Amino acid sequence: MRDSLRDELVSTGQQHVLRFFDRLDSAGQSQLEQQLLDIDLRRIHQLVHGKQQQHDWARMARRSQPPPAFQPGAPSDTVGRERARQKGEQALRDGKIGVILVAGGQGTRLGFPHPKGMFPIGPVSHNSIFQILIERVLAFSRRYGQPVPLYVMTSPATHDQTVSYLDEHDRFGLPAKDVAVFCQGTMPAVDASTGKLLMSSDRSLALAPDGHGGVLSAFVRDGLLQQALDRGIEHLSYGQIDNPLVQICQPELIGYHLLADYEMTSQVVRKSDPLDKVGNVVVVDGKMCVIEYSDLPEDTARRRNADGSLFLWAGSIAVHLFAVSFLERMSHSADALPFHHALKKVSYVDQLGMRHDPDQPNAIKFEQFVFDLLPRAEHAIVVEGEKSDVFAPLKNADGAADDTAADVRNAMVRLHTRWVQLAGATVIPGVPIEISPLWAVDAEQVTERMTEPLVIERPTFFHE
Ligand code: UD1
Repeated sequence: MRDSLRDELVSTGQQHVLRFFDRLDSAGQSQLEQQLLDIDLRRIHQLVHGKQQQHDWARMARRSQPPPAFQPGAPSDTVGRERARQKGEQALRDGKIGVILVAGGQGTRLGFPHPKGMFPIGPVSHNSIFQILIERVLAFSRRYGQPVPLYVMTSPATHDQTVSYLDEHDRFGLPAKDVAVFCQGTMPAVDASTGKLLMSSDRSLALAPDGHGGVLSAFVRDGLLQQALDRGIEHLSYGQIDNPLVQICQPELIGYHLLADYEMTSQVVRKSDPLDKVGNVVVVDGKMCVIEYSDLPEDTARRRNADGSLFLWAGSIAVHLFAVSFLERMSHSADALPFHHALKKVSYVDQLGMRHDPDQPNAIKFEQFVFDLLPRAEHAIVVEGEKSDVFAPLKNADGAADDTAADVRNAMVRLHTRWVQLAGATVIPGVPIEISPLWAVDAEQVTERMTEPLVIERPTFFHE
């Protein structure tokens, strides 16, 4: 063990992590030493001892205003859908767009023992979310004749399985040179009452993924930001793996972002209920930010305009567009993203070597959220999407009140049924329909594809 590391552990009050060190074999010693070298002990000290100011969300929420927004097609829409679409299509044709999917979550609430992207969500095909979203990227790349690089962020818990799964399926048709799977970083969990680092065994700290905001540092660390710049990628379309309707690569959305010349654009949906479990995109003191539903006081959430509509209406669905130049600028700023503190249950071994599996939250995990880049952007705006077209999150196991696999499949069937009906088809009620992105990515493409009026009487998967 290097003296400098030992000294730093002492000066930051964390020397207890060396309790078992002298008894470990050399592999155990080097693992622990490496883990300690990889973390910034001073930063942990600052986080624990409150040097980083924690937001008073309730006060911020009470000062919040609704965000500036494009409402595509509404009288207030100064850009116009068609112009936006053409602009986005041109950027795709020029090969300036890449995609980031974050897939590091462990899907604990879903109760699926694999990365969530492997969940067989297709209502008729049973295709996985990975397949559906990768085929969407492939569909746009074919349509506009340019590769669209896909960057998939995993975490230590999902990385190996994700890599093997994508390899086994030949990345669902995307060329290897256009897919990069990169693993987010970790942060150590600390005891909630003492701030001491927790150990998961005698030779390992209790480490947890650093939140989806870890995408910024991992993307830079693995040279992918530079690679994107070298490839001429100017904007990244970002989404979460848990939403099979996610509008990655959507030309119109890209177009609004480009025409307004913004560093960051977020797609939002109008909240149907004040207490919807989504982040709230708001403006506080002139800066756009997201306040999680759990941090929004109920009276503020329920506030209404004179016409009865919700005052804070913009629900975050975690879909963003980033200018690559903005990410590059942020990558040079050490505190671009703050760490949020989350009180969680974390198993640990104590100083006597006894293992504990707490049934109450006992630890603080530190996480960065990618939407905290919003207040850092020179210009940021939201674009409203229709919830039924863009958002069907898979969060919970069947039987839960909402966001279950059954809810997601129903949402997919409803959307795809609407598309074929618009194209003149008759669908017998209750018959499920699914459309592969390689067959059509939107209602217009379905209309182009359907040359005669169909009557659909049995479960149908439209695919190439
Ligand atoms: C998140 C948003 C919420 C938004 C909702 C939309 C946060 C704190 N809240 O809620 O504002 O309305 O999505 O569905 O983000 N992930 C990683 N690494 C991590 C943690 C998460 O890659 O360390 C990925 C997950 O794989 C998932 C996504 O980020 O794709 C969302 O994570 P999750 O923790 O499930 O967020 P939610 O609480 O559902």
